[in-house]
Amino acid sequence: MRILGIETSCDETAISLIEVKGAEVEVLGNTVHSQIDIHAEYGGVFPTLAKREHQRNLVPVLEKTLAEAGMLLPSDAPHSHILENIGMILDRESELLAAFKERVSKIRRPDIDLISVTVGPGLEPALWVGINFARALATIWELPIVPCNHMEGHVLTALIRGSGKSYKLVSPEHPSLALLISGGHTQIVLMERPGSYEIVGETRDDAIGECFDKTARILGLPYPGGPKISELARIARERGVALETPLPRPMISSDDLDLSFSGLKTSVLYATRKEGALSDERKMAYARDIEDSVADVIVEKTRKAIDAFAARSLVIGGGVIANRVLRERLQKLASESSIALLLPQIDHSTDNGLMIALAGYFNRDKAQPSSVELKAAGSLPLGSRRQLTKRG
Ligand code: KG4
Ligand code: ZN
Repeated sequence: MRILGIETSCDETAISLIEVKGAEVEVLGNTVHSQIDIHAEYGGVFPTLAKREHQRNLVPVLEKTLAEAGMLLPSDAPHSHILENIGMILDRESELLAAFKERVSKIRRPDIDLISVTVGPGLEPALWVGINFARALATIWELPIVPCNHMEGHVLTALIRGSGKSYKLVSPEHPSLALLISGGHTQIVLMERPGSYEIVGETRDDAIGECFDKTARILGLPYPGGPKISELARIARERGVALETPLPRPMISSDDLDLSFSGLKTSVLYATRKEGALSDERKMAYARDIEDSVADVIVEKTRKAIDAFAARSLVIGGGVIANRVLRERLQKLASESSIALLLPQIDHSTDNGLMIALAGYFNRDKAQPSSVELKAAGSLPLGSRRQLTKRG
């Protein structure tokens, strides 16, 4: 089965084409166009700007993905009644509609079975562009569409093993815990069975990536702050630079599995304000303790969740797992707890189309005709919320 996955929930325009045969996953084409440079000026992702950029980038990203798969071939223009339907679907995206008529309508229908698209969670203006583009493609190529949850995509990218274009699907041992750490989310999810998701812990305020981005901003570092903090923290460790008074580890000892990061941000704000202009060395010291604080809390809460649910495996997803210190600390935790750890390949941890193509495959029974309306759902949950209760 061949699936085209479309992702536009935040600041990456991404499309991937995969072929799944049993447990084999072949990545036929995979393109990610990041808008980071554009949003960096504003210190964060600007929804209307993201929407405009997705409109501009979707057609070139599609063409690149199809070309990589050897499926970018010319075709005759479609009948006018089909173009009329597309005009209705893309009536709020005039720039995209023009590119669609000009370029996409002249591409030969690729030999694929399904289109999948992120419907949430994410920035609604950004999600709508991807959804409408997916519906327009599905209309012109007469294909069914699968609406996908972005966070499930992050979970699934940890379930493929391989490199380059060839991967194998692996099944985690259940019950499994998924730790989802991204710019918009921080959740601990219990998976008692494949495809069943229950949120057992989550942040009460800022997401972990947001915490990295906001504290980086306080330190005068550019967006996105995560990679920058991580780089400075590495140098601080090499040079033995540290804060005299450590930052707080918020909620580390609370009985539940919830987390909180806004207090850490406030502590950094107050502490740095007192100091005035920071030298590079002070910035490094802060970066190191921010990273350590976040890692301490995440590791402790994950350890508590593993014990509470007698988890057999730990699956990690989301952009923040590109962080080397977190990867190492979670690896250590998994080995101390004698459970399997499933991590995504580093370049699959931040947003991409492959995750949505995989989510499309796993949810192929939910495929619907392109004529059925799809809605963007900015805060689409991955599952229901369950309070922490011990087993047995
Ligand atoms: O999953 P993702 O690509 O987008 C969302 O769905 O939010 O995650 C982006 C987040 C940003 O907050 C970014 O600062 C963070 O992941 N990030 C990192 C690192 N690389 C990306 N945080 C810490 N260390 C990193 N190396
Ligand atoms: Zn994401």
